[in-house]
Amino acid sequence: MAKKDNPFKNLLKPIKIGPVELKHRMVLAPMNDTLSGHNGEATEQLISYYAARARGGASLVITGAIMGTKLASQFVWGRNLYCFHPGHIQGLKLLTDRIHYFSSQACAQITIGFGRQGHSADHHELAPAATAGLPYEIALEKGPKAIEIAWKNIEHPRSFLVGQMTREMTIDEIHSEQKEFARSCQLLVIAGFDAIEIHAPHGYLEHQFLSPFSNKRTDMYGGEWRNRKRFLNEVTEQVRYAVGTGVALGVRISAEEHMEGGLTREEMIDVGKDLEERGIDYLSLSDGGGYEEGGHLVPDKDRAKHIPEHGRDFKKAIKIPVMVASQHDPVKADADIGDGMFDLSALGRQLFIDPEYPNKIAENRPDDIKRCRYCHTCLGISLAGAGIACPHNPELGREYANPEYMIGPRTEQELIISRGMLAGDMPCLDRPWWKPEFPIVEKAWRKFRGPGRR
Ligand SMILES: Cc1cc2nc3c(=O)[nH]c(=O)nc-3n(C[C@H](O)[C@H](O)[C@H](O)COP(=O)(O)O)c2cc1C
Repeated sequence: MAKKDNPFKNLLKPIKIGPVELKHRMVLAPMNDTLSGHNGEATEQLISYYAARARGGASLVITGAIMGTKLASQFVWGRNLYCFHPGHIQGLKLLTDRIHYFSSQACAQITIGFGRQGHSADHHELAPAATAGLPYEIALEKGPKAIEIAWKNIEHPRSFLVGQMTREMTIDEIHSEQKEFARSCQLLVIAGFDAIEIHAPHGYLEHQFLSPFSNKRTDMYGGEWRNRKRFLNEVTEQVRYAVGTGVALGVRISAEEHMEGGLTREEMIDVGKDLEERGIDYLSLSDGGGYEEGGHLVPDKDRAKHIPEHGRDFKKAIKIPVMVASQHDPVKADADIGDGMFDLSALGRQLFIDPEYPNKIAENRPDDIKRCRYCHTCLGISLAGAGIACPHNPELGREYANPEYMIGPRTEQELIISRGMLAGDMPCLDRPWWKPEFPIVEKAWRKFRGPGRR
């Protein structure tokens, strides 16, 4: 909450997203930090990286995209967190514990797949996508200049420029992936996340189903607009049903594609309305059609200027809170929130360089904030698969060496059982015959005899 003489009244105003109360409007944007292990596990390096952002005051710490099905996990570039097996709960719980210890709320961004933007480890498996035979291709001149060197000179990042061949997902496969994904979201609740964000922007699988460029299907998931929206709408319905009411649910979409003939802002507003009807608690707006479109996914200063207008236009059509990215200037962000342009500011690279940004705003020390210079070193190094680094924050990626980010005994603000589990309304998804009319057995049918000789 803002102190009397603090001018950042709007940025510091608490807000509710579904059942979750956020202490203010500055959140960590989802960024795949590539600090997870080879098998999608949370490493100490990853956990302490997030701890630093929680300690720096972010009200909500959103993870980078977590692979939400086994199939999805086979098509990552570099490394991402995984959550599709109960075994993944352990590392994720260590992560949420650390975030809660530093008084932030934890949000898991989770993806059902990268589709045609996926890469199989052995380069042979066809990437499961909305449509077969549509690999992406990045035009070098469209990408950020700073990573051109890596792309031109080194084979591994260079192979990112042309995607792999794709195969069309069958309807049966779509349904089983959706079900597995919804179940993975339940695992996230058990792992202690307060919020779940479905990852649907930037030309990844859900976005591919929406876009006329990447969806050439002729069945119920392709063709007319209603059909192209079906995949994302179904995923959202299933996740909402699966995770119950104790957890906040958001969806991240691109506000427009910025490609001739591509998805327009009006169409994406229509998507936003559909998602609101399906019971999500906030909408997060990012931008751009994905890898081929070049530049709006991780915008430079100029490309970030129109983003508050996205917020304004979506807010006219929906009632739930709207989050936007890339608004690094706190004075402008505060004014824009006050003017009703958006509700939440998701800070990405800005919290790479200065995780203390939210604390500095809360203490009215905006001049002490180290501002992102859009050099894209973070992006280049992570694309090369070498973790994350920033030339202006020597601590980024080395937070594990700082004892300040370590955890201690459980504090009072930490819940022992997650809010989502306490709500007690996560249905069983695996066994369709498990209905309320089958009561849980109260009495054992034979006496428990205990260990020892019979
Ligand atoms: C290294 C890196 C990884 C990213 N990974 C993700 C991701 O996993 N999911 C996502 O929705 N956006 C991702 N983004 C986009 C950011 O969330 C954000 O929208 C973008 O960086 C613009 O915000 P900023 O100007 O504050 O950095 C990533 C960006 C960067 C730089």
